[in-house]
Amino acid sequence: MIGSASRPDVQIRPIEPEEFGAWFDVMATSFGHRLRDEVVQLERSFAEPPRTLAAVEGDRMVGGNAAIGVELAVPGGRCVPTAAIIGVGVLPSHTRRGISTALMRRQLDAVHERGEPLAVLHASEGAIYGRYGFGLATRSGSLQADRSGVAFVRGYEPVGSVELVERDAAIAALVRAAELTAGRPGHLGPAARLADYTVRDAALAPEDEGGAGPFYAVHRDPGGHPDGAVVYRVRQAWPENLPRFTASVEILLGATPAAEAALWRYVFDLDLVGTVEAWHRPAADPLLWLVREPRALRMRVGDDLYLRLVDVRSALAARAYAGEGSVVLGVQDPFCPWNAGAWRLVAAGGRAEVEPTDAEPELELSSTDLATIYLGDASFADLADALLVRVRDPAALERADRLFATPQAPRCWVHV
Ligand SMILES: CC(C)(COP(=O)(O)OP(=O)(O)OC[C@H]1O[C@@H](n2cnc3c(N)ncnc32)[C@H](O)[C@@H]1OP(=O)(O)O)[C@@H](O)C(=O)NCCC(=O)NCCS
Repeated sequence: MIGSASRPDVQIRPIEPEEFGAWFDVMATSFGHRLRDEVVQLERSFAEPPRTLAAVEGDRMVGGNAAIGVELAVPGGRCVPTAAIIGVGVLPSHTRRGISTALMRRQLDAVHERGEPLAVLHASEGAIYGRYGFGLATRSGSLQADRSGVAFVRGYEPVGSVELVERDAAIAALVRAAELTAGRPGHLGPAARLADYTVRDAALAPEDEGGAGPFYAVHRDPGGHPDGAVVYRVRQAWPENLPRFTASVEILLGATPAAEAALWRYVFDLDLVGTVEAWHRPAADPLLWLVREPRALRMRVGDDLYLRLVDVRSALAARAYAGEGSVVLGVQDPFCPWNAGAWRLVAAGGRAEVEPTDAEPELELSSTDLATIYLGDASFADLADALLVRVRDPAALERADRLFATPQAPRCWVHV
C-alpha cells in the first residue's frame, strides 16, 4: 500500500514478465506517447522485471518505476554497483497523489537492501528528483553549431580515418571506446548492454521527428582498429532553395581525444549541412577549445546525470581522495534517514575510512548536495557559494575540497 492510509486502494508491487507490455503502456501514456511494438520490444529486452515496479489501483496499473543494475565509475576509477532508474511515470489521471513518491520509496529501499550504494537517472524535468535525494552530478552541454564557424584551431592534424558502417559495426566500435574509457568518473557500464540499447533506441525515432537515418560512422586508429563511433540523423531544409540541413548527433564517443576530434570533423564536414546539433555532451567538452570560434558552437550548459548516494558511508568509501587529511561532514537526508548524521572521513593513501562520529560537523549539507560534489563536477566551495553548504569552519572547506579534488571533470557517455 502506498505511503498514507488515505490511499489504501493503490498497491506497489513488482510486475510479472508477461505484464511488461501493460506496464510500458502506462509509461508511454505518462509521456504522451502512443505505444509502438518495436519500442516495447526494445524496452522489454532492457528491463529487469523484478526491479520494474507498478502502482496498481484495483486491477489497473497507474504508475511505474523501473531500475536496472549498472556500474558507475567514481573518482579513482572504481566501477561501483549502481541502480539506474530507467522509467518513471504516472498516468495523467493519477498525478499529484503521492504515487511516484511511493514508488521511489519502495525502489530506493530495495536498492539499499541489495547493497548498491548509488542510484542514477536522467530526468525529464530537473525539479522532480531533488526531493528524493538525487543531486545534479554531471552537467551537460548542448550544441547548435553553425557549421560555417567550426574550423579547428591551426595545427590540428587528423589521426586515423572515418568510415561509414552498418549499425552493428557502430555498436562494436562504441563498446570498445566505452570500455577503453570505463574508469572516467561518471562513466556508466556495462558498455555492451548500454551501447546496444542506446544505438537501437536511436534507430526507433520516427523519421518526421528525428530526420533521416540514423547513419553510423566509426573512427579507426592508425592501426585500423575501430576506437570510436558517431550515430547521427539528417533533417533537410531548403530555404530559398539553399541547402540548410541539420545534422543531429545522437551519440559520439571516442576512446581517445584524437578519435573524438576526427568524428566531430566528419560531422562538421557533411555537405549541405548548416547546423550540427547535439545534446548530452559533457559541459567541459574539449570541442570548446578545439574550434577556432567557440561561439559558433552555441553551447548551452544544463543538467545531465542525477546521482543518489543510497548509502553515504559506502559511497564515500568507494571513491578515491587526493592526499591525506580528515573532515567531519554533517549530512541531512529526510528520504533515506539511515544516511543522516555526522560522518568523519579520514583519507590516506588515496582511500578513505568513513565512520559515524559524535564530533561537531565542520561542514553541513544534504545528501543531495553531497551527491553533486561526489563525482567532482562541483566543489564544496561551489555549493557554499550556492548557499547549500553550511560552513562551520572555513579551513575545513579548503581541506575538504583538496581531498575531493579530481583531475578530470566527470562525464557520462550514455543517456538511459
Ligand atoms: C513526474 C511524475 C512521475 C510525478 O508523479 P506524481 O505521482 O504526480 O508525483 P507525486 O504525487 O509523488 O509528487 C511528489 C512531489 O513532486 C512534485 N512533482 C511531481 N512532478 C513534478 C514536476 N514535473 N515538476 C516539479 N515537481 C513535481 C509534486 O508536486 C509533489 O510535491 P510535494 O511533495 O511538495 O507535494 C508524473 O507527473 C509523470 O508521469 N510525468 C510525466 C512523465 C515524466 O516526466 N516522468 C519522469 C521521467 S524521468
